[in-house]
Amino acid sequence: MELLKVEGLTVRDEEKGETLAENISFSLSNHECLGIIGESGSGKSVTCRALLGLLQGKLAVTGSAAFGGEELIKMAPQRLREIRAQHISLMMQDAMNAFDPLYTIGAQLAETFREARGMKRREAWEAAAAVVRSVGLAAPGEDPARVLKKYPHQLSGGMLQRCMTGLALALKPEILIADEPTTALDSINQRAIVENIRRLRRETGMAVIFISHDLGVVKYLADRLLVMRRGRIVESGEASEVFEHPQEEYTRYLIESRRRMSGQFRRAVSEGGAHD
Ligand SMILES: Nc1ncnc2c1ncn2[C@@H]1O[C@H](COP(=O)(O)OP(=O)(O)O)[C@@H](O)[C@H]1O
Ligand SMILES: [Mg+2]
Repeated sequence: MELLKVEGLTVRDEEKGETLAENISFSLSNHECLGIIGESGSGKSVTCRALLGLLQGKLAVTGSAAFGGEELIKMAPQRLREIRAQHISLMMQDAMNAFDPLYTIGAQLAETFREARGMKRREAWEAAAAVVRSVGLAAPGEDPARVLKKYPHQLSGGMLQRCMTGLALALKPEILIADEPTTALDSINQRAIVENIRRLRRETGMAVIFISHDLGVVKYLADRLLVMRRGRIVESGEASEVFEHPQEEYTRYLIESRRRMSGQFRRAVSEGGAHD
């Protein structure tokens, strides 16, 4: 079943006369993971933020994005907030900015559950504790309050990112939009997040839009793939098919640069030191 249908989505910066995303169309079904790749500045984040009404500044958005029969583009802000709290979660690149520095992690997680799920104080705190446990920040038997009572600056970027993934997991959205969720992380935290996303898909049937520079991770997660360049989709299709038989020069270039990088990495590891 089609969960989200995007048609002709276009984002323009009228002041500068620039088109940041042009005529973007795709659909997303239940359970499906759509990967989006493309060089930095190709319009991946702008596209996803436009869907959720989260673009900053004066940008004109046209086209259509239908979620379960409701049109997201130009939706009233209050209803969009509800959609974001209950149906479509965004996992951002920079978890540090997602948390308010003035409140503890526990207070912020609990507040989200109270708002999004109408939970009472006690229940919301329990749900926050469950988030911390679910992403391995408190071992079984260990008191999650140790983490919950911390302020954002007292946790590492990786730990915050895990809190955010855990929160997305607990809210059980129908769609998770993960915008380079692993870019700033070390490999252990990266793997934890990717595995959490897989688990969430398996357990809830959630659909995922996964944006990443890391083609290895995209290959691992995505069923279908969009390749973006300069605000446009230049290639799309079954992920395995696009990776095996890229049709566009640009896609081949992206895949080749990734191969070169991992080759260098392998050599560096096998020779016991990094060379360039
Ligand atoms: N709020 C904004 N206002 C104006 N221009 C923006 C805004 N956000 C992004 N851009 C521009 O849009 C283009 C695409 O950006 P983005 O979608 O963030 O790229 P990426 O593919 O790396 O996620 C870039 O040229 C960027 O500078
Ligand atoms: Mg981006």
